[in-house]
Amino acid sequence: MVNEICVHIMDIVANSLTAEAKNICIFITRDNKKNFLSMKIVDDGKGMSEEMAKKVVDPFFSTKTGKKTGLGVPLLKGTAEHCGGNFYLKSKVRKGTEIYSSFVLNHPDLPLLGNIKETILVSVISNPEVDFKFHYTINGNRFILDTKEIKAQLGDVPINHPEIIKFLRIYLDENL
Ligand SMILES: Nc1ncnc2c1ncn2[C@@H]1O[C@H](COP(=O)(O)OP(=O)(O)OP(=O)(O)O)[C@@H](O)[C@H]1O
Ligand SMILES: [Mg+2]
Repeated sequence: MVNEICVHIMDIVANSLTAEAKNICIFITRDNKKNFLSMKIVDDGKGMSEEMAKKVVDPFFSTKTGKKTGLGVPLLKGTAEHCGGNFYLKSKVRKGTEIYSSFVLNHPDLPLLGNIKETILVSVISNPEVDFKFHYTINGNRFILDTKEIKAQLGDVPINHPEIIKFLRIYLDENL
């Protein structure tokens, strides 16, 4: 198993970027009372055929095309299912992909969350041409970071300008 949930986030976001997504939404919900953690990543990248989607989720599913698939998606599915949660992948060619996973929060094998703030920040500043919407809900309190809104206020200043990175880091620190 991967040792941090953040690594899964990076893996799934990397897939969205490879699929040439222009908009990536990341929803993370944590509810201590309900003992539940969920993660949904939605992109508007090139998507997958039904056959490909099946193959990606289960790398042993065989298709005639024989294209090799990797481990990012099956690892996340494995972690979710092992940790008492659920997993689904929905995808449509030329529309995009949605990957959902959930976990029992106090499951003994649940990986550490890792540094969500840095994961989000690095994704945003390394891909200034992509828009990210990050929703983080902890025990009912929702925080949203929407790079489209931030970029609209920045005008010509790039989102990965050192001063803006500083601002984003403080903003995330204060809210997460
Ligand atoms: N968001 C997505 N949009 C379109 N295709 C996707 C998406 N996510 C996954 N795929 C397809 O599923 C395949 C498998 O993804 P997975 O992350 O499991 O492995 P990988 O990215 O090929 O390799 P790695 O093990 O390095 O992650 C990808 O190669 C890609 O073809
Ligand atoms: Mg991958």
